[in-house]
Amino acid sequence: MKVDVLLGLQWGDEGKGKIVDVLSPKYDIIARFQGGPNAGHTIEFEGKKFVLHTIPSGIFIDNSINVIGNGVIIDPFILQSEITKLKDADINIGSNLLVSRKAHVIMPTHRLLDAVYEKSKGKDKIGSTLKGIGPTYTDKVSRNGLRVGDIEASDFESRYEKARDRHMNIINNFNYDLSEFVFDGFNFDDYEKEWMKALETLKSLEKINSEYFLNNALKNGKKILAEGAQGTMLDIDFGSYPFVTSSNTITAGVCNGLGIAPSSIGRVFGIFKAYCTRVGSGPFPTELFDVDGEEMRKIGHEFGATTGRPRRCGWLDLPALKYAIMLNGVTDLMMMKADVLSSFENIKLAVAYNEKGNITTEIPYELCNSDDFEADYMSFAGWKKDLSNCSSYEDFPDELITYIKYIESETGVPVNIVSIGPDRSETILK
Ligand code: GDP
Ligand code: IMO
Ligand code: MG
Repeated sequence: MKVDVLLGLQWGDEGKGKIVDVLSPKYDIIARFQGGPNAGHTIEFEGKKFVLHTIPSGIFIDNSINVIGNGVIIDPFILQSEITKLKDADINIGSNLLVSRKAHVIMPTHRLLDAVYEKSKGKDKIGSTLKGIGPTYTDKVSRNGLRVGDIEASDFESRYEKARDRHMNIINNFNYDLSEFVFDGFNFDDYEKEWMKALETLKSLEKINSEYFLNNALKNGKKILAEGAQGTMLDIDFGSYPFVTSSNTITAGVCNGLGIAPSSIGRVFGIFKAYCTRVGSGPFPTELFDVDGEEMRKIGHEFGATTGRPRRCGWLDLPALKYAIMLNGVTDLMMMKADVLSSFENIKLAVAYNEKGNITTEIPYELCNSDDFEADYMSFAGWKKDLSNCSSYEDFPDELITYIKYIESETGVPVNIVSIGPDRSETILK
């Protein structure tokens, strides 16, 4: 058996949660392999809507085992809030949720550091979700982190305090008034108290050596789906650095984020929106500042699932899509939110970048938003039809099929799912 992978090919929020939920009945285990509560994965069914930050999106499916892998970073407070919300909605959380002992823990001072670093950057800020992602991964790599397996150790408290003091020394250098930083409605001291209480919830969950658990599962013929967070253009190595997140969001991240050998990777499902969005700062070559961008945001409800910030919107970027397909080894494409473009007269697709007359289809070392750098577009006729009555690929208007076929011919990868609405049922499989 191999591990199939589902991940985002753009700047995150492609609709990963929705499709993991749709595919989950075909898998025994769903595993998150990187990122933390910067993720916000939305799942809608039977008139209900859930947003998951840490818990894998297979949690709504009976018999699905959900693993939070070693590559994920966990905020006990946020995880506890997530569990409470699910339990309040009668979603079963018990032996169907397993946590890697090797996953690192986000401390309150990691969040404070994140806030302080962002403030100090001024107009150059990353636009972080301020969940402590960068500082926690920094501590992991610099060998200073705390892991889930440490929280029950007898010396946990002293290790926590040592790390806290180290963080505070850095934070105090900035000379900011710390009362201006608010964490889920709490000031820092109160947040830390709530965080400490939430450790009990994390302690109560079943901890595993997820690399053994997953490899044994594979040996025993179990089917595993790895659920990506963020998107390829936010990858720490290949994204639009420094405007990226702090983990490897690409297929390679499955290997070190779950302990899976490269030869055990199976199909790679690459998800993209029929257009593009980005939340936070950083270059976005096809960004629209006109009514078309406004329409996309309005019709697509493009507001962050984690922070509520408006998402920047623009046309689909083919060079970036091809780059993401190359980096991830995508075998199947899934196009999301086709319905959002249903009212557009024309649909544009960026096919190259133009830098002062130099045309390229490769992502340059530094993607930038400047007057000297722009995208060259191809235009397609819009379908101008409501897609809600389409129940199969054959029902799609010709113009939509032409758009899909062009993407398939340019990328060499089939578009096997087209999503036409947020609900689980609004999913067309080819
Ligand atoms: P994720 O982070 O990749 O899981 O995506 P998010 O949940 O952050 O953002 C995707 C948003 O689009 C959510 O609000 C979804 O409910 C919604 N969505 C997903 N697929 C579709 C679709 O095909 N059409 C529309 N209109 N909305 C969709
Ligand atoms: P999902 O899994 C969209 C963005 C932030 C910011 C940058 C760095 O829901 O697709 P960080 O909090 O990691 O320090 O932020 O990355 N970002 C996301 N954008 N979707 C996400 O996750 C994101 N996670 C982080 O907005 O620009
Ligand atoms: Mg999201």
